[in-house]
Amino acid sequence: MEPWNYRTIIEPFRIKMVEPIPFLEPAARRAALEGAGYNLFKLTAQQVTIDLLTDSGTGSMSSTQWAALMDGDESYAGSRSFQKLEAVVQELTGYPHVLPVHQGRAAERIMARTIIPAGKVVLNNTHFDTTRANIEQAGAEALDLPVPQALRPADTSAFKGDMDIGALDEALERLGDRVCMVMLTMTNNAAGGQPVSMANIEAVSARCNAAGVPFYLDAARFAENAWFIHSREPGYQDWTVRAIARRMFDLADGCAMSAKKDGIVNIGGLLCTRLDDHAEVFTNELILGEGFPTYGGLAGRDLAALAVGLQEALEPDYLRYRARSIAYFADGLEQVGIPVVHPPGGHAVFIDAGALAPHIPADQFPGQSVANALYLLGGIRGVEIGSLMFPEATLQLVRLAVPRRVYTQSHIDYVIEVAQELAQRVDELPGYRIVKEPPFLRHFSCELAPI
Ligand code: F0G
Repeated sequence: MEPWNYRTIIEPFRIKMVEPIPFLEPAARRAALEGAGYNLFKLTAQQVTIDLLTDSGTGSMSSTQWAALMDGDESYAGSRSFQKLEAVVQELTGYPHVLPVHQGRAAERIMARTIIPAGKVVLNNTHFDTTRANIEQAGAEALDLPVPQALRPADTSAFKGDMDIGALDEALERLGDRVCMVMLTMTNNAAGGQPVSMANIEAVSARCNAAGVPFYLDAARFAENAWFIHSREPGYQDWTVRAIARRMFDLADGCAMSAKKDGIVNIGGLLCTRLDDHAEVFTNELILGEGFPTYGGLAGRDLAALAVGLQEALEPDYLRYRARSIAYFADGLEQVGIPVVHPPGGHAVFIDAGALAPHIPADQFPGQSVANALYLLGGIRGVEIGSLMFPEATLQLVRLAVPRRVYTQSHIDYVIEVAQELAQRVDELPGYRIVKEPPFLRHFSCELAPI
């Protein structure tokens, strides 16, 4: 039998460097949370036992990546490490122009300052919040066109990250040349880490070609998206994940990528294009804000580690383990009475806090209450994605993002056991009110109090 057909999901690596994690007494957790104004963003790392705040920049590098890092070339211009990264990315994406940036939002900012004029509109399945903020900062409009299934947590459709093609046609027709760019975010993080199907990418690509509108991918989780196409979309079972990824990139004009996810590095990003005129304005803007085009805001060693990480992220043994462990996590939570968004996404499990704690009204932040309870019961840090983060939110979710290659199945079993305790005591959870609020992006720094 294949090793992955056994019930136990064995991590496809062994561990040769370890980092201790802190354990706190219940009283110390209570004091820490109160000191943080009941805002988990304000906890220190030393106060968190299992940190599921984000999968961004929190992954473990492999021994091969650390070896590459030692070999990084720090030349200001023409670095050897850049040449290696450029060759890897060109082969992966087919895009001739490869610009390194310090992280994903730097790529978004460069695009916003060059090819997104004020008054124009960008269409996306769902903009990630930094993408939206950069577009709005440029005086343009960011319009989300998710499929309706994306808003129904119990709907088990395979590709809830898709763009609504009917809505795209309508928007292109209605807005005409106000549309300056179409993007697809893969996987669709803001909609539960759900994948985009190849059929949907093809349909969007065809519309963009017909309308003469540039089409870019937000490829932060390109490898996980490719894996879902391989495992869920009819016709792709015999394709390699690499070939699927290449086909995804082939259908677009370029991509912005936070390499802190599927690049499996702790810092880094990419902006790539096949359009020469875009490459020219991107490069000028890159030099202004990030650095010379052969390092773009990163050290040579970062480029070297990224060149390796991008390849490791496409290994089937790794992707199979990654998808299986997220599904295991979601199933485990459901079995102990915690409702989650279906089907399991690629990088995180999303608890449906609205369904779990219906006694807490949306304006008392049920997601924050559930997230705080996970911390109080077990030192676990997740993040509210509901009416605290987005005041107009329709879903009240808690995201438990899983860093790449960091936690083992026993860590996840621990989280599930703590969640079981939470499910049994959910009636005791309080609502929260805001006692101190900054002018924007309030979830990062506001202070709360239980009601
Ligand atoms: N696009 C997507 C889909 C993202 O998820 C992120 C970051 C970015 C762009 C921005 O990239 O952080 O490197 O500047 N997502 C992180 C998260 C922060 O926790 O989901 P960045």
